[in-house]
Amino acid sequence: MKATAIARPNIALIKYWGKRDVERNLPAVGSISVTLQSLYTEMSIEFSPDYAADELVVNGMSNRTMLARLAACLDSVAGDGRCRAKIVSESNFPIAAGLASSASSFAAAVVATAAATGQSKDTHQLAQLAGGASGSAARSLFGGFVELRNTTDNIAVTSLRPATEWPLQIVVAITEAGPKSVGSTTAMEISRKSSPFYTSWLERQESDLSAARDAISARDFDKLAEVSEHNCLKMHSVMWTSRPPIVYWNAATMRCLQVVRSLRAAGRGVFFTMDAGPQVKAVCLPEDADAVFDALADAQGVSKVMVSGIGEGATLQA
Ligand code: PMV
Repeated sequence: MKATAIARPNIALIKYWGKRDVERNLPAVGSISVTLQSLYTEMSIEFSPDYAADELVVNGMSNRTMLARLAACLDSVAGDGRCRAKIVSESNFPIAAGLASSASSFAAAVVATAAATGQSKDTHQLAQLAGGASGSAARSLFGGFVELRNTTDNIAVTSLRPATEWPLQIVVAITEAGPKSVGSTTAMEISRKSSPFYTSWLERQESDLSAARDAISARDFDKLAEVSEHNCLKMHSVMWTSRPPIVYWNAATMRCLQVVRSLRAAGRGVFFTMDAGPQVKAVCLPEDADAVFDALADAQGVSKVMVSGIGEGATLQA
């Protein structure tokens, strides 16, 4: 009754922001992401009739913050009559800081739970279950360039293209390692209820998804850069115009954006994206990754820089 899974965070290029059904955690829009290779969460889950309660240990420390959400995720896979579980999770990157640690955690959780409890569920079913816990987690079940489609009554996740066919690099600049100020579920609801830009955000998402799909299919870096930066800034504009405003950026975030924009103006193949946190992710052509890494590492206020290729979906450990 024990299994271990590895899953990686993913970075959205066309973002998910807003829910159409909070209860079922269904997104209001589709999204497109890349799964990272070098960052990962490894999660072991052991179910036993001898355990009186669920227990979660994250990076060696007992953790109660995520326990309820994780326990509900385990219930969704194994049923709420399941045995209690001991969950041990290790991540090699800062958690709860806008680096999609919830995506890698919930993706690993559904894979490990299904295996440990002998459920035969395919990747699409597992993606739906992971999405019930964290919308972006559904995408981490798959590798490469991944699309989450918002279907009439659920979500459908597919890989658009494996990483091997377009091996871009992602440089992540950490500008603040602590937990984020507002969780994404709360923030999305504030945006839905109060941003005057929210409706137009929803209305225009389909055309951004279509442009990104075409760019990925044609391996057109400039086109992907243009639509991704536009979509990212549009999502942050929805956040900024919410009441109260949701501002995840700090001064170093802005400096990193300027670094990326200058590199791009100087002919480097690089563009930025950011999520619900102050970190900046620079997506770049492989030949430009070193220059991007060095420039971001030099930016004032950046405490750490990581680089990753595009990686695989969630897997079970032997
Ligand atoms: O999956 P959640 O609920 O943590 O929301 C993720 C939202 C963004 O990271 C900002 C965008 C995205 O598509 O990943």
